[in-house]
Amino acid sequence: MHSAPAKIILFGEHAVVYGQPAIAVPFSALSATADSIAAPDGTGLTIIAHDVGRVLHVYLDDDSPDNALTYAAQLTLRKLHARPPNLTIDLRSTIPVASGFGSGAAVSAALIRELSAALGSPLEGDQLNALVFEVEKMHHGTPSGIDNTVIVKNTPIYFVRDAGPQAFTIGRPFTLVIADSGIAASTRETVAAVRKLYEAKPARYQQLFDQIGVIVRAAKAAIEQGRWADIGQQMNLNHAVLQDLTVSSEVLDRLVQAAREAGALGAKLSGGGRGGNVIALVEPANAKRVAAAVRQAGAAHTWVTTVGG
Ligand code: MEV
Repeated sequence: MHSAPAKIILFGEHAVVYGQPAIAVPFSALSATADSIAAPDGTGLTIIAHDVGRVLHVYLDDDSPDNALTYAAQLTLRKLHARPPNLTIDLRSTIPVASGFGSGAAVSAALIRELSAALGSPLEGDQLNALVFEVEKMHHGTPSGIDNTVIVKNTPIYFVRDAGPQAFTIGRPFTLVIADSGIAASTRETVAAVRKLYEAKPARYQQLFDQIGVIVRAAKAAIEQGRWADIGQQMNLNHAVLQDLTVSSEVLDRLVQAAREAGALGAKLSGGGRGGNVIALVEPANAKRVAAAVRQAGAAHTWVTTVGG
């Protein structure tokens, strides 16, 4: 059995696609898992994707698979110069789809881990990351690579496109309330929408991306030095620029507002936006109150997690 966690973007989504830094952490309360059993001779490779109710047969000569899981399995077989084995892989995930938690990257990572291990050549690290990134392109069009990287590395990362991840230290663990709005939103569409705005007014949008870059660098320093109030303030500033990028929504703004009114030190949308999830930095003693307030404001689900503990 192999698995991969969900992820949360703390700072820098969207601008990271344009070369600005971003910060992401794994979120292991949600995960994807893959388990496999040998199948009778001649049955080939089958993936049972339980959460979406699909049974997929993987053939190497299918050149344009319409499914990301089939594509992930093909990439793995090609990488390892292997024929489809007689194997059935059960894939399950507790990560809500299209909610900013990196569900696509996590199921791909769990599947590739299980399949490559079953073939006797377990793929990990940079090799696994490169394959999951290829699959991400099918999901997202022009991904920055932050989702697959934080999910595969399973550690907090400061990420700059093309430069890759940099390690950084969390000076003092901090507590987040994570709220799923319950509204599914496609990252492919939000990224494409921002691209369209950028192409229409490059100078204006470049300025917004640059502003986010300044926020992310300040947030990194605040995280390293354990300054909770400053981390929260940078979250509020980042949310305001994401509003300018048009990727927030009435519902996300309402959840962010509710968190702040309940005493959160800062709150913002996280991930692609227009749906998906919102994160709030809280004093540990205030976590329950903030979580209740965002549920009252309409969140479908909330979690409390400690980053860097
Ligand atoms: C999605 O989790 C993060 C975005 O910045 C897209 C990307 O980086 O590929 C919106």
